[in-house]
Amino acid sequence: MTVKPNNLEKLPEDLDRNRLPKHVAVIMDGNGRWAKRRGLPRIMGHRRGVDALKDLLRCCKDWGIPALTAYAFSTENWGRPLEEVDFLMTLFERVLRRELEEMVQENVQIKFVGNLKALPPSLRVEIERSMTQTQDNNAIRFTVATNYGGREEILQACRALATQVQQGILQPDEIDEGLFASYLYTSGAQDPDLLIRTSGEMRISNFLLWQLAYAEFYISETLWPDFDRAEFHRALEAYQQRDRRFGKV
Ligand code: IPE
Ligand code: IPE
Ligand code: MG
Repeated sequence: MTVKPNNLEKLPEDLDRNRLPKHVAVIMDGNGRWAKRRGLPRIMGHRRGVDALKDLLRCCKDWGIPALTAYAFSTENWGRPLEEVDFLMTLFERVLRRELEEMVQENVQIKFVGNLKALPPSLRVEIERSMTQTQDNNAIRFTVATNYGGREEILQACRALATQVQQGILQPDEIDEGLFASYLYTSGAQDPDLLIRTSGEMRISNFLLWQLAYAEFYISETLWPDFDRAEFHRALEAYQQRDRRFGKV
């Protein structure tokens, strides 16, 4: 039997099992640049990006991280060329159809967050199907942010709360952080402990504005399609070095 020198199927021994993030969020950036560097069309980068996401999901599951959220499409991404937007919508749909059975078997719970009503109807069908068929699964909670914008999410919560106040159902001083969070798309989920962004960009790009209040940030220079277990290992090592003070001393 040959032993791989870099066997990353199990949690690497230098990581402390008790100090892993309970929720990892990832801004998967750099697909276009990955393709461009190879003289390929941008869409090839998106296609390879799906493989990287699949492996990260499996890795989180293997290493005992109970929640992963991935930013797949922002409310600002509609501003890209029509062909790219169309390709992405079709890709999401195809991947969901192709992977659902395996996700069910692997006990993955799938969630989608964002303004889902504005997505193509055929994609919405697959989204609904995947959420319904996996709702009782509990190996890992996998959330995909699609047509997601942090500001839009906060605004729709404000509108819903304002309506409740207007109807006399709610008093303004009853609105606290817990109640507000329950009106967000992410209601019921724990906030991310670790945010990873690839391709070296140091911005949040309208992702989980409320939920990332105390997340640790890790910026990787790697382009998303090349993000692998070794790179995730480095992110977790960095995370475990951090001193999370939450405003205290
Ligand atoms: C991230 O990669 C994927 C999406 C936003 C859908 P990009 O497409 O933003 O890749 P770059 O940043 O142009 O390299
Ligand atoms: C953020 O990446 C959105 C997703 C990864 C889905 P972008 O590539 O759209 O972000 P900007 O435009 O560089 O801020
Ligand atoms: Mg980008």
